Amino acid sequence: MVQSSITMTQTSYFDFESNKVSQKLSFGAFVTFAPLTNRMIYITRKETFSAAHKLSRQDWSEEKNREMFGKCANPNWHGHNYDLTVTVKGEMNPDTGFVANLSDIGKILKSKVIDKVDHRNLNMDVDFMQGKLPSTEVLATEIWNQLEKDINALGCKLHSIKIQETDKNYVEYFGN
Ligand code: NI
Repeated sequence: MVQSSITMTQTSYFDFESNKVSQKLSFGAFVTFAPLTNRMIYITRKETFSAAHKLSRQDWSEEKNREMFGKCANPNWHGHNYDLTVTVKGEMNPDTGFVANLSDIGKILKSKVIDKVDHRNLNMDVDFMQGKLPSTEVLATEIWNQLEKDINALGCKLHSIKIQETDKNYVEYFGN
C-alpha cells in the first residue's frame, strides 16, 4: 500500500490504490472514508443576459396571440433580463479537487450562448433560435443543445439548465 501525507491534516493519509482517505484518530485507530472519486458532485455557473423577444404565431390572430402569450405577444417587442444557471455533474478529479474548472464552463457559456443572445433579439438574431418560438422553455432546451458537447468534452455531464425570466417565473430543463 502506498501512503502519502495530504495537507488537510497531518494525521490523514491518502491511499492511491484504494483511492480512500484514512484519518488517524487521537487514540491511534484509523478510520477510512469513502473514495474521493465515485462521488457525484454538482457544480453551478450563473450568467446573465438581456434580450428582446416576442411570443406570437403568425398563423394566429393578434387577439389570440395576446390571449395566449399576454404581454410577451406585444407586436413591437419587449425585453427581459435573464439569469442563466447551468449545473454540471461529475466525479472529482483527485489531483485538483475539481469536477471541472468553473472558469472553463464560464468560457463555454460565453462563446456558445451569452455572446449570441446578449442584447440581441431572440426571434431574429440568434442562430440556434431561428424559426422557434422563443419561450423560456424552448430557450432552455436549445441552450442545452448548444452546451452539451463542450461540457462532455470537459469530462462531465450537463445536469440542468435554469432560466429565470422574471422575479416570479423560471424554467428548469434536465435534458429528457
Ligand atoms: Ni416576454
